[in-house]
Amino acid sequence: MLFSCEGITKCYNREPVVEDINLELFQGGFVSLLGPSGVGKTTLFNVLSGVDRPEAGRVLLAGEDITGISGRVSYMLQKDLLLHHRTVLDNVILPLVIRGMNKGKAREYAAPFFPRFGLGGYENKYPRELSGGMRQRAALLRTCMPRTFGSHTFGQQNPVILLDEPFSALDALTRITMQNWYQGIAAEMGLSTLFITHDVEEAVSLSDRVYVMKGKPGRITECIDILPPRPRSRDFPISPEFARFKRTILEAIGLEFTGGTTKKIGRISTAPSDRGEPSREWTAVASLTQGLGSGMIHQ
Ligand SMILES: Nc1ncnc2c1ncn2[C@@H]1O[C@H](COP(=O)(O)OP(=O)(O)O)[C@@H](O)[C@H]1O
Ligand SMILES: [Mg+2]
Repeated sequence: MLFSCEGITKCYNREPVVEDINLELFQGGFVSLLGPSGVGKTTLFNVLSGVDRPEAGRVLLAGEDITGISGRVSYMLQKDLLLHHRTVLDNVILPLVIRGMNKGKAREYAAPFFPRFGLGGYENKYPRELSGGMRQRAALLRTCMPRTFGSHTFGQQNPVILLDEPFSALDALTRITMQNWYQGIAAEMGLSTLFITHDVEEAVSLSDRVYVMKGKPGRITECIDILPPRPRSRDFPISPEFARFKRTILEAIGLEFTGGTTKKIGRISTAPSDRGEPSREWTAVASLTQGLGSGMIHQ
C-alpha cells in the first residue's frame, strides 16, 4: 500500500473530532472521502499531511511512519488562495523559494509546466486576470511543485496528493472540465490522489474507492469500491451502474434515492432547535446535498 492511516483519532479541546480512522490509497489510485460539512474531513487531512499530530494512530507512506511529519505528501488546502499581489508564476514558485531555491532558477524551473496546466501565456498575469478554473489549476500546480523537485517530471517516487474540495467553488461546467483535466494529468504524472468532496456524483465519477464519513466524532462508516476500473468510458456517468453506485452512497450517508425524490432515512432530526434554528444534523445534510446538482434532490 502506498499511503495509509491506521486508527487515527484527533481531538480539539479534548473532544474527539475524528475517531479511529483507517484508510488506504494504492499507487496511482483515486480515493474519495465523502461526508457532510463539519464531520472532520479537513481535520483528518491536516493529520494525514503532517500539519497536525493525532492523539492516536499513525500515517504511513510506502511503509514509513510519517505521522506528524509535513512535506512528505502534497496538500492543497480547501482555501488555497493565490496571493493577489504576485504574478501567477511567482505564486507557483512559492514552495520552491521557501525551500531555498533562487527566484530566477525557480521561475525557469516552473515555467515549462504551465502549458500542461492550461496556463501557457499567463505566467506574468495576476490571479484576478484568470478564470476560476485557471486559478484552481495554478493552485494545483503550486501544490505539486515540491514533488517535482530535482527532476522535470512528476515521476518522483511517491507523489501522493491530498485535495480538499478542490472543485467545489467552480460552476458546474468548469467543474466537469477540471475533473476531466485532472484525471488526465494524474494518470500522466502518476499521482495518487486522496480527495475530499461532498458531491456524490463527483465522488462516483472520479474514484476507485469512496469512504463515507459520518457522525460526531466523525468515523468512516462505509467503504465502497467503484467499478469498472478507471479510465472509464465517457458514458459511465449516464449508465445504470453509475446510478446504482450513487444510490449506494446516498444510502450509506442516510439519504435514500428514489428516482425523482430523495427521502431521508435513519435518525436525522428535522426538528428546529430550542432557539428556533435548524438542528446541526439538518444543516449538515442540507449542505451535503447542495453539491448534488441535476435537481434530483429534494428535501
Ligand atoms: N483548530 C480547531 N480548533 C477547534 N475546533 C476545530 C478546529 N478545526 C476544526 N474544528 C472543529 O472540528 C469539526 C470538524 O471540522 P472540519 O474538519 O473543518 O470539518 P469538514 O472539513 O468535514 O467540514 C468542526 O466542528 C470544527 O468546528
Ligand atoms: Mg473541510
